[in-house]
Amino acid sequence: MKLPRLLLPLGLVCAATLFAAEPAKTESAPAITIVRAARLVDPAAGKVLIDQAVVIEGDKVKSVGSAADVLKSLPAGAKVIDLGDVTLLPGLIDCHTHITGQPENFYEDLFRRSPIDEATVSHIYAKRTLLAGFTTIRNVGADNYTDLALRNAINRGALPGPRILASGPALSATGGHGDLNRMSPYVHIDGINGIADGVDAVRKKVRDDVKYGADVIKILATAGVLSEEESVGLPQYTLEEMKTAVEEAAVWGKKVAAHAHGTEGIKLAIRAGVASVEHASFIDDEGIKLAKEHGTYLVPDIYNDDYILDAYAKMGYPENIIAKERLVGRTQRENFQKAVKAGCKIAYGTDAGVYPHGWNGKQMIHMVRWGMTPMQAVQSATVNAADLLGQNGKIGQLAPGFFADLIAIKGDPLADQSLFEKVDFVMKAGVIYKNHLTADPVKQFE
Ligand code: ARG
Repeated sequence: MKLPRLLLPLGLVCAATLFAAEPAKTESAPAITIVRAARLVDPAAGKVLIDQAVVIEGDKVKSVGSAADVLKSLPAGAKVIDLGDVTLLPGLIDCHTHITGQPENFYEDLFRRSPIDEATVSHIYAKRTLLAGFTTIRNVGADNYTDLALRNAINRGALPGPRILASGPALSATGGHGDLNRMSPYVHIDGINGIADGVDAVRKKVRDDVKYGADVIKILATAGVLSEEESVGLPQYTLEEMKTAVEEAAVWGKKVAAHAHGTEGIKLAIRAGVASVEHASFIDDEGIKLAKEHGTYLVPDIYNDDYILDAYAKMGYPENIIAKERLVGRTQRENFQKAVKAGCKIAYGTDAGVYPHGWNGKQMIHMVRWGMTPMQAVQSATVNAADLLGQNGKIGQLAPGFFADLIAIKGDPLADQSLFEKVDFVMKAGVIYKNHLTADPVKQFE
């Protein structure tokens, strides 16, 4: 057969590619790794299983079973990582972070840092979060879409970090929690924020967030603590505005997370159909009832108060902010306890970024101190969180088909929640990022 001159080289290239495909195929066949541990927490069943092995193929879990059974019929070429006397858990999930920042000084942060400064450090926070055992986070609120850029870089494999579902700028009323308040009217800070007033502007802002890649929409339903508006907890959006946000987000297949401290604002947000109420500090009995009826998750950041009261005055935060925190802290914990007792759905969310990233595990101890069983606390950061994030079947469990996101902790973190601050082994999607237990290498970023 005579090929036209021009096509000849192309024909050769095709043949070469076909042949080359053969060895490449074997090379890229997903490797099998088996991780063995003395204990494995199964949050879906609410059980701790003894001497287990997780079989990992590529980035997913293939099977989980008793170590004896798994090791008996070892697949050829499988690599066994025996972690010894540790507790294995699904990678933890933090449903409320601010991964792009971390306060150092109120006025410096506000006036001397640009979005570019934020972007240059946010990857460090992401790495700390992952190494703390949080393999997934939901980032709720970052102006300038910095969190989306960070998420994309992690997804491309350019940076180590947790999987991120991110919101971009949080929707806020003018003068609300997301605005710069109490300054001279001549002070403006450029940038892309989430200020939107009225149903039309709210709809447009949701569309903007989706357009630039938001996975979730965040709205600031009530006044907050770490902003200079006067009240903490008064509603800042009407029912109509919030309904619009929920409706428009749903059009694009997104859920809405509502920051809400105050009693009325919490109820408005639930009635509007948000997926989760963040903070939920002043929730009352009716709010608890409504949350149960609507299946709304509460995401209470009940460690935060300790850090704010300890550190924020030293960082130059205005006294009116500290005073607002004093109103919130204890009541939020008492109401968390009531909500737990009433059987509300609760997902783990810390507000990390208000305090140092990587401390995400600190809240576990408080969840138990304020009424959860140790297993419920683990469920809040695994199966419940996965459900809130719309990630059922993908994360939050170690079961066939789930991502191989797993962490190991020495000792028994169900007996001592402070151990959640000492994670010794972190694997995300089958790749080891931290390993203090064996000689198996961790992924390098050079
Ligand atoms: N980001 C929240 C706000 O500014 C932090 C609230 C912290 N206080 C608390 N007790 N949870 O409103």
